[in-house]
Amino acid sequence: MADLYQFRTAPEEPLDCIYILQCSGADPLDSLEFSAKDRKALKAKAKALGPRGEEDEVISGECPLSLARRLTFVGLGEDRKLTHAKLRAALQRVMHQATKNREYQIGLGIPVKVHGLSDAESRLFALREAASADYTFDHFKSKKNEFDKVDGLHILPLAGESEKELEERLQRARLLRTSVQLARDLGNRPGNDLTPEALASATREMCEEVSGLRVTVLGMKELLKEKMGGILGVSQGSQEEPRLIVIEHRPKKPKKSVVLVGKGVTFDSGGISIKPAAGMGWMKYDMCGAATVVGVLRAVAELELPIKVVGLIPAVENLPSGSAIKPGDIITISNGKTVEVDNTDAEGRLILADALYHSERFNPDIVIDYATLTGACVVALGQEAAGIMGNDKDLLETLQKLGEKVGERVWPLPLYEEYLSYLKSDWADLKNAGSRWGGTVTAGTFLQQFVPEKVSWVHMDIAGVGYLEKEHNGLPKGATGFGIDLTVAFLEQLLK
Ligand code: BES
Ligand code: MN
Ligand code: ZN
Repeated sequence: MADLYQFRTAPEEPLDCIYILQCSGADPLDSLEFSAKDRKALKAKAKALGPRGEEDEVISGECPLSLARRLTFVGLGEDRKLTHAKLRAALQRVMHQATKNREYQIGLGIPVKVHGLSDAESRLFALREAASADYTFDHFKSKKNEFDKVDGLHILPLAGESEKELEERLQRARLLRTSVQLARDLGNRPGNDLTPEALASATREMCEEVSGLRVTVLGMKELLKEKMGGILGVSQGSQEEPRLIVIEHRPKKPKKSVVLVGKGVTFDSGGISIKPAAGMGWMKYDMCGAATVVGVLRAVAELELPIKVVGLIPAVENLPSGSAIKPGDIITISNGKTVEVDNTDAEGRLILADALYHSERFNPDIVIDYATLTGACVVALGQEAAGIMGNDKDLLETLQKLGEKVGERVWPLPLYEEYLSYLKSDWADLKNAGSRWGGTVTAGTFLQQFVPEKVSWVHMDIAGVGYLEKEHNGLPKGATGFGIDLTVAFLEQLLK
């Protein structure tokens, strides 16, 4: 990925191109910091090129300054219609175009503001997205494309933005980029490579890279001892042993205790209730919730947040075999509740049940779980928002508001007590799937039965946003790392 620099410290060699984003009706050069002489030269050039800032407009010419060869204006349309998605897509376009043109060192001016955000909020978003905009996953390609990629991204300061201020913002963008990249890489790794144990070792590696994290991995022996019937049950059809990965960030005087739970199904075939062949390969992404948790923990450690944060990742592979769980089987979750497995494809809630119950050990004030849990959530909200459910209205509202700010939208769905009747079993305490109706909220209701008492809890169904079947809103195809920015912002807000 391209390194981030301040334009002020641009290399002696001229940059290949300077890209300037622009909304219609505004002169972008007025909002960027230049010397009077440079500004004059740029203005004259802009006048000759005549960019109008309209959406999808791209206009290039020779750069009048000696520090760059070319100058390109990229239009974004009206500023009061500028969304996170449009800005992200424009940044991605810049990186794609620079890569295609073999521009290795580029300048980037982003004198535009996402509508509804403060200057600072918008700036942080833009820098963070610029830092991640050239993400690709080529680990399994024999021919790597790293030599064809931009390696230096030189950010033009905004008018009035001090060197210190910009450096702090760049530092934060780099930090979040590292977490997002890690989560995307984990998500994109195929099931044969990223097994439950491989997810555990990738987590161990991450915890060695940063200071302040402790990782413990529960294997078969410990899971049996803890009677984690959900995790053991789902994994029993696979040759791959299950794991429960525990990542702990325990600062000296923590202000709060938060547990983050991530669904880590490294491949979900559906099990005996097997999924149709078409599109089954997408189910390698069924551990995106886990990836988000790993990414958040990395950021939390690097930021040294004074909050106790524990990540819990139940990791399994859901396959059919002679030893797999079958519809009708009754399993016992670690809290003693029995569950009739009505559908082996509703496996996420079974492993999350054990993990949610386990969260009690860490005395959490707040528990948030992240899961690619239901196809119904994708039907309801598409790829524009995650569904959130929970037992604390204020917490749901806080997340919804923050999501609007950071560009990771979440939308509340109800957990009416009547939904519990959908999960009534004739033979056990509960069954794991209801009828066709209300797929997302019945899954949420199922999880709720395993949340420790007196804990504020949110369930985030990221089935539609955790990975994308093609580029969308300026996000890459594949894993997105959804939820990392939102969660880090949320944890920071807890400290205010
Ligand atoms: N991992 C899937 C949910 C999913 C579907 C995620 C599509 C992303 C895209 C989950 O384990 C699942 O299979 N859920 C079932 C539940 C049903 C059997 C009650 C579903 O949504 O169909
Ligand atoms: Mn499933
Ligand atoms: Zn699943």
